[in-house]
Amino acid sequence: MKSVLITGGSRGIGASAALQCARRGMAVVLTYNERADAAQAVMQRIEAEGGHAAVLKLDVADSNGFIPFVGKLREILQERWQHGTLDGLVNNAGFGLFNPIETVTEEQFDGLFNVHLKGPFFLTQALLPLLADGASIVNLTSATTRVATAGVAPYAAFKGGLEVLTRYMAKEFGPRRIRVNAVSPGAIRTGLGGGLDEEFEALLAAQTALGRIGEADDVGQVIAGLLSADQGWVNAQSIEVSGGYQV
Ligand SMILES: NC(=O)c1ccc[n+]([C@@H]2O[C@H](COP(=O)([O-])OP(=O)(O)OC[C@H]3O[C@@H](n4cnc5c(N)ncnc54)[C@H](OP(=O)(O)O)[C@@H]3O)[C@@H](O)[C@H]2O)c1
Repeated sequence: MKSVLITGGSRGIGASAALQCARRGMAVVLTYNERADAAQAVMQRIEAEGGHAAVLKLDVADSNGFIPFVGKLREILQERWQHGTLDGLVNNAGFGLFNPIETVTEEQFDGLFNVHLKGPFFLTQALLPLLADGASIVNLTSATTRVATAGVAPYAAFKGGLEVLTRYMAKEFGPRRIRVNAVSPGAIRTGLGGGLDEEFEALLAAQTALGRIGEADDVGQVIAGLLSADQGWVNAQSIEVSGGYQV
C-alpha cells in the first residue's frame, strides 16, 4: 500500500484528492490548519469506504513547525501502516483574497508568500529524507498564472513561483526518480477566498470552453492520477485543469 501526505486535505480540492487517493488504495495522511472537524469528517468518510486515513494539524505558514511535524508523520506512517517512507506529497493548502495591487498590505503579501511559496519549498525540503525514491509530488498552482485576473496579483505571482519551483524540484530530485508536477486549476467551486457569487460564477462559466466552473472532484481525480504509476512518465509539467478557461 502506498502512502500520501495531502496538505489542506480537510476541505475543497484537498479533501477530494484525499478521497480519490484512498479509493485507489493509498493510505492518506491529510492535514488541516483550523478545521479539525472537517478533517475528521474526511477521515471518517474514507474509513467508511474501507480506506485508510489519518489526520494531522499543520500550519503551512509556520516553517518552524515542519521538523516536529515530519517527526509526527514518521511515527504515524510506522505505527499505522508499518511504512518507513512516504510515496506521495500534495502541496495543496492555500487561501485566497481579493485586493488590487494599489491597496495590498505588506502583511497580506507576506501571508500569501508564506503559504503559497515558502511553505511548499521548506515543507518539501523537510520531507526529503522521508520521501521514497520514485515518489510523486504534486504542487497546486492556479490558472491565474496564465490569465491575469485583477485583484489576485501576489497570489498569482507566488503560484507562478511555485510553477517554476516545480521544474527545479523535478530536475534536482530526478536522480532519486521522484516526479514533480504542478496542477493548475481554473475556477473551482470551493470555499477559497469566501467562494464565488452567482454573477462571477456565471461570468467564469461563460469564459470556459466546457461551459461551467469546476468541481473539487474535477481536480482531485487528476491529482490522484498523477500520484499513481499510470502517470509514471509525466514529469516537470504544469497541467491546467480548467475545462478550457479563456482559450
Ligand atoms: N478553488 C479554486 O478555484 C482554486 C483555483 C486555483 C487554485 N486553487 C488552489 O487549490 C488549493 C486548494 O484550494 P481549495 O479551493 O480547495 O481551498 P479551500 O476549499 O478553501 O481549502 C483550503 C484548505 O487549505 C487549508 N489551509 C488554509 N490555510 C492553511 C495554512 N496556513 N496551513 C495549512 N493549511 C491551510 C485549509 O485548512 P482548514 O480547513 O483547517 O482551514 C483547507 O484544508 C489552494 O492551493 C488554492 O490556491 C484553487
